Amino acid sequence: MAPEAELMPRLRNVLYSGQIGEGPIVAEFEAKFGEFVAAPDRANVLSFNSGTAALHIALLIAGVKPGDEVVSTPMTAEPTNLAIVHAGGRVVWADIDPANGNIDPDSVRQKLTPRTRAILAVDYGGIPAPLAALSTIAGDAGIPLIEDAAHALGARYAGKVAGTHADFVMFSLQAIKHLTTVDGGMLVCRDVSAAAHGRVLRWFGMDRNAPRIGVDIAEVGYKYHMNNVNATIGLVQLQHVQDVIDRHVANGRFFDHALAGIPGLELCRWDAAAEPSYWMYTVMVERREDFVNKLAGRGIATSLAHQRNDLHSVFAASRAELPGVDRFFSRMIHIPCGWWVSDDDRAHIADTIREGW
Ligand SMILES: Cc1ncc(COP(=O)(O)O)c(C=O)c1O
Repeated sequence: MAPEAELMPRLRNVLYSGQIGEGPIVAEFEAKFGEFVAAPDRANVLSFNSGTAALHIALLIAGVKPGDEVVSTPMTAEPTNLAIVHAGGRVVWADIDPANGNIDPDSVRQKLTPRTRAILAVDYGGIPAPLAALSTIAGDAGIPLIEDAAHALGARYAGKVAGTHADFVMFSLQAIKHLTTVDGGMLVCRDVSAAAHGRVLRWFGMDRNAPRIGVDIAEVGYKYHMNNVNATIGLVQLQHVQDVIDRHVANGRFFDHALAGIPGLELCRWDAAAEPSYWMYTVMVERREDFVNKLAGRGIATSLAHQRNDLHSVFAASRAELPGVDRFFSRMIHIPCGWWVSDDDRAHIADTIREGW
């Protein structure tokens, strides 16, 4: 959270302004966030009260209708795939690249059918998915590519910051992301008319600028908009987010070098065009339980972060053979690399791992 002296006066002002709902501060936050992710115009950027809401709306405005298939990855936080179900879609699993946990374009191509309405890719842990190959596949199939960039604020692909590499790009602003508004989500839409559709759907299906009794709800909408309080937090956080991202990246690059060549440990490898945001630092290890215990004994927390989504009962109808997921999920583990990890901490982590487990 941004320094108290900076945040609290602005928060106090908005809380007692008489305008705590969605107002001009939300629009200002959308504009400033859009600048940060190099969106073409503020009209392309929508804020939401969560990343899950942003994804749900992205799927709806991408044209996903009940029964349509969405090709997606099981290696993600569950909301990625629950949003497909919220939209009435059917989850079709593509396999992942066991070198980094991201969706595998060859597998995506194999999973397309005439019922496929969208491809949903996740930048797992902040490593950009292979967006060039995925865009080509989506373009060839005439369907949109949706990028779940919840972990990837500030990541870059082909020299450009994450935000404009897919038809729809979602960011989560929940509690533990690079930029938090406590809860919130953003959607950058390539097409301005799609964004306008999303703006209506995020507020019950009504145009907020139209007179309330002159407006007709033609399509069911949702209570998904952001409010001025969260947007105020976001505006202040935005002034510090590059420092937060830079620290994640500095720690991540430190581990890229410090952990290279350790027997029994494999580093992630990624698309040459990708520059990760290092939201999490993932390694693949032999004898994972021993690795976890060794680090725990030295006061170092590790985590698996997410269950592979295909194992949840709610997705039972989508079960598939996923050898890449099997390989990755049996060996992967996340080690601390966020803004809270100091130079001493990261040296202690690397030294401990180098001793072996
Ligand atoms: C990859 C991924 N997708 C989607 C979400 C959902 O975002 P939110 O918690 O803001 O709804 C999250 C975070 O929780 C996430 O990590």
